Amino acid sequence: MPAAASGAPSLPESLVLRSLRWGDFEPLVAIYYELYEERAEGHPVGIALFRHRPTRADEVDWFTRLFRATLAGEDVMVIAEVDGRAVGNCTVAPVGPLRQSETGHIGLLGVLIDRRYRGRGIGTALLARCLEECRGQFEQVRLSVHADNERAIRIYRRLGFVPCGHIPRGIKRGEGYIDEELMILDLTRWSPPSAPHKH
Ligand SMILES: CC(C)(COP(=O)(O)OP(=O)(O)OC[C@H]1O[C@@H](n2cnc3c(N)ncnc32)[C@H](O)[C@@H]1OP(=O)(O)O)[C@@H](O)C(=O)NCCC(=O)NCCS
Repeated sequence: MPAAASGAPSLPESLVLRSLRWGDFEPLVAIYYELYEERAEGHPVGIALFRHRPTRADEVDWFTRLFRATLAGEDVMVIAEVDGRAVGNCTVAPVGPLRQSETGHIGLLGVLIDRRYRGRGIGTALLARCLEECRGQFEQVRLSVHADNERAIRIYRRLGFVPCGHIPRGIKRGEGYIDEELMILDLTRWSPPSAPHKH
């Protein structure tokens, strides 16, 4: 479980960064489903969601496609595991339908950490590892982030992403709108951050 709230936050001792396993289905779906609860509670969830929570059957389809894509080397995915359970994931998938297309050198990044484990450095370590694994696979990594997701934007900037566009009202949530920031990272010139992270 997470460390006590007092004292400086630190990476969990048992953090492992590893590839996707079939057994990650349940924890990853649970983390994703919790975003719908966070949204219902009025928290500023930093990921675009569906209007209604997808069914478990939808999630099986998503996970199967993801598992196949990682096995095939199409997607790069790193799992953050704490105490033997997945607590987050970072995925970079080709923007186009296929790696062989003329956009196959560009990957689209998504990252999500279990809310109980945020703010302890796991997201930063996970992103850094995922980007390391993307080197040689993609030349550029893109992402879209909600303009009010300041924590995520700070992390992306620290890792070398630069803003490349702003889409007003890119997300429609209920009756309100959220602007989107677009960011890119040139992986051909990127080197991993010097701060040590867990292996
Ligand atoms: C955005 C998200 C992935 C970041 O992951 P995280 O684990 O919370 O991020 P980190 O803990 O690495 O960094 C957050 C802060 O903790 C600090 N931190 C605490 N302990 C740390 C440590 N040991 N090492 C590095 N940073 C540490 C970081 O400096 C950072 O500080 P800042 O907010 O002042 O910039 C996560 O909060 C999340 O899943 N949010 C919901 C989904 C989402 O928004 N996804 C992004 C969509 S684009």
